[in-house]
Amino acid sequence: MDRIRIVGGNELHGVIPISGAKNAALPLMIASLLTDDTLTLENVPHLADVEQLIRILGNHGADISVNGRRERQGESYARTIHFTCRNIVDTTAPYELVSKMRASFWVIGPLLAREGKARVSLPGGCAIGTRPVDLFIEGLQALSANIEIDSGYVNATAPAGGLIGARYTFPKVSVGATHVLMMAATLANGTTVLGNAAREPEVVDLANCLNAMGAKITGQGTATITIEGVRSLSGARHRVLPDRIETGTYAMAVAMTGGDVILEDTDMALLDTALEAIRRAGAEITETNSGIRVVRNGAGIKPVDIVTDPFPGFPTDLQAQFMGLMTMAKGTSHITETIFENRFMHVQELARLGAKISLSGQTAKIEGVSRLKGAPVMATDLRASVSLVIAGLAAEGETMVSRVYHLDRGFERLEEKLTRCGAHVERVSD
Ligand code: UD1
Repeated sequence: MDRIRIVGGNELHGVIPISGAKNAALPLMIASLLTDDTLTLENVPHLADVEQLIRILGNHGADISVNGRRERQGESYARTIHFTCRNIVDTTAPYELVSKMRASFWVIGPLLAREGKARVSLPGGCAIGTRPVDLFIEGLQALSANIEIDSGYVNATAPAGGLIGARYTFPKVSVGATHVLMMAATLANGTTVLGNAAREPEVVDLANCLNAMGAKITGQGTATITIEGVRSLSGARHRVLPDRIETGTYAMAVAMTGGDVILEDTDMALLDTALEAIRRAGAEITETNSGIRVVRNGAGIKPVDIVTDPFPGFPTDLQAQFMGLMTMAKGTSHITETIFENRFMHVQELARLGAKISLSGQTAKIEGVSRLKGAPVMATDLRASVSLVIAGLAAEGETMVSRVYHLDRGFERLEEKLTRCGAHVERVSD
């Protein structure tokens, strides 16, 4: 199994191209099940989760062709992928496929809307909390779906004439349930109004793509999304938006090691709250023509308290990385996780590098130390593992991160991007 070996201590200098967002690419790919026409997605990142979803969509009958496009010599390999699902050949998403990635559960929305039925295994995915599916079920029931749970599967059927538009307010903000309800409602009879909807940029990206396919969605990016059902959707061509989590991760890496890096092909507006926290920690962040410049010279890292929240709050997907940064702050900081109850698994591993962190309920108290020291550590989930990489870049000596398959799910060409900026990072295959 691959590991990542990091020799810490180097500043980062150079340019890092930011990939298309994994969390936008996945729902956009799933949206291809809503039409018998071709959906073409540009700027799709090359990640294990994308490959897994390609297998799942193929199982439902999608024809998928990939054009590798070399955007810049040897750098960004944003791919263009064509998805054509003339016929849905299977409305079952089996356990063997769904258990590997939670987002694959989301096929339930398009399958139900287009075929009137879906049988989808309850999901797996990162071990960061219980992550139930009650909101999906409640929301689809509001659209008149009949839902039964049997032997680990959700069996959903629509009324004879199809799903029926309705007003549904989420009791809790959920990105996935917003994606699914929005997709399902595009083909429902009548109008659906979703209240307390997720406002994440990836939700907006999906809504914009669906509109390009002929859907009638308004209000995306606000808490109330209105979807006027249409008879059918057509194909479209859509570019996946930049990955704000990858952007924030590299910004934090620079803040931690020091240096001067341009994050290319990304957009500050996607992650205001996180960038503001990084600025308060002592990095200079400015907008450039092609993206964002992050600089930290000399001065130490300042402690900053954060609380994770749905967009536009501080993203839970950057919490572990920010904790990595705070381990070397000059003073004590507090990080409160409000989205997932079990998202502190990186704490034990950061402690192996010498970090001083104590947990009390959903809040971590981090007492900054003047240096971290490299050690063998284990990746536990996608975002936690990259926090170990960041900490390893700033630690003295060698850090060996095992179980890197977590990283491969969400970070495209991580070693290469960091190495080009002067870091000592390499993949070791046993
Ligand atoms: C998405 C992101 C993930 C991110 C998360 C929160 C993708 C592929 N994944 O995950 O990276 O960390 O948003 O920004 O886009 N919940 C329920 N019942 C439900 C559904 C969710 O209680 O039916 C809870 C979850 O357990 C969690 C909270 O709602 O506590 C938010 O989860 P949600 O926004 O749904 O996360 P995902 O869409 O799975």
